[in-house]
Amino acid sequence: MRTLISGAKCVFSDGIRETDVLLEGPSILGIDPPRTAAADERIDATGLHLLPGVIDDQVHFREPGLEHKEDLHTGSLACAKGGVTTFLEMPNTRPTTTSRAALEDKLRRAADKCVVNFGFYMGASFDSRSQTLNLDELKTATRTPGIKIFIGSSTGDLLVDDQDALERIFAETMLPICAHCEDETTVRENAARLANSSDVRDHSRIRDNQAALIATRRAIDLSRRHRHPFHVLHVSTKEEAELLRERPAWVTAEACPHHLFFTTDDYERLGTLVQMNPSVKSPADVDALWEALRDGRIEVIATDHAPHTLAEKQVPYPKSPSGVPAVENSLALMLDAASRGLCTLPQIVSWMCEAPARVWSLKNKGRIAEGFDADLVLVDLARRETIRNEEQLTRSGWSPWHGQALTGWPVRTWVMGRTVFAEGRVDPQAQGREVEFDRAPIV
Ligand code: DOR
Repeated sequence: MRTLISGAKCVFSDGIRETDVLLEGPSILGIDPPRTAAADERIDATGLHLLPGVIDDQVHFREPGLEHKEDLHTGSLACAKGGVTTFLEMPNTRPTTTSRAALEDKLRRAADKCVVNFGFYMGASFDSRSQTLNLDELKTATRTPGIKIFIGSSTGDLLVDDQDALERIFAETMLPICAHCEDETTVRENAARLANSSDVRDHSRIRDNQAALIATRRAIDLSRRHRHPFHVLHVSTKEEAELLRERPAWVTAEACPHHLFFTTDDYERLGTLVQMNPSVKSPADVDALWEALRDGRIEVIATDHAPHTLAEKQVPYPKSPSGVPAVENSLALMLDAASRGLCTLPQIVSWMCEAPARVWSLKNKGRIAEGFDADLVLVDLARRETIRNEEQLTRSGWSPWHGQALTGWPVRTWVMGRTVFAEGRVDPQAQGREVEFDRAPIV
């Protein structure tokens, strides 16, 4: 099956060019093919922009164990609608993804029910009483983009705060590592000081700038000494952005839409709906994140999509869970930002497509180029639509951006050459594939 997409302005990380794109089967056969090229299907995309599909390298889809919030199918439907063609999912499910058996179970489930491409991290786990670290599992896993460490605890009970355990993970494993960086000691001290508070604004005082800075500095130090590839997840503070000026070449960093578009001022309007880990920060922190994205200190944007039901989120603080759903709207939020002059379309392609493919060595992903996978999204920059809870495909059924009008929306998504989203509908029968890696063999 050959599909010719004609008339679209194609967005590359180095510029925008109007050119036809020919797809054959799951791949991109040619850019600017001859006018005589045969095609079974011709799509006139005049007036629209074509981007590589978004690669979201940080999502929580809750299967197995907490499927009432989300499962791999509903999470992938939300991805397809949002222009996300590949997701990499985190290990804090029930059971946790801390063994090869649990990883393979997730891969089997995903192959059955995901409409977009998928990969799953291996979680590091450490039992402080028995001093047990799952090092063998971390050393021998291959079907994974990398290792996730919760250096500070968040949703679930994965935590590796012990220095010896961290040293061993960085010294003895081969896979790239990423981490949730909020210092556990600082968070616990702050929480003890504010123990009787039911004011959600204290969430940002408990999980404060220092907590983020201390843990990020600790992780970068480990990465530097062990020369181990490391990705800082969800940078949220100006202090971390400053620290990234002096990072080794093999350290990369990421920001999330909720830290780019919300501040502590939003607690008043949204309360626990903007409770997340790391917490929302000040307008000065938000400015620093944008600056770090623009000058390349932060190279990736990912969502940290963390679905909880609205009823769960509305439980009074501090019993309310942390996290917000976002895969469905992340690209639209960034296109809207571009429409307001905050960034350019090539920057969006760099942050949301090319850089995550590079950081995780994803084979044939992240670019509109010959021989690459036909994971693509067509966007209409003139389309203005309002995010509505009732229209969300995530099972959690809500968005912290409910009621917000955005300019610029995905209108069609291809995964491995097949249309999975068009005319407002996702094809629930579509099938994504397990990601492959372009890296030296691990074992
Ligand atoms: O707010 C968050 N929620 N941050 C995380 O790191 C985990 C996530 C979740 O899984 O709910």
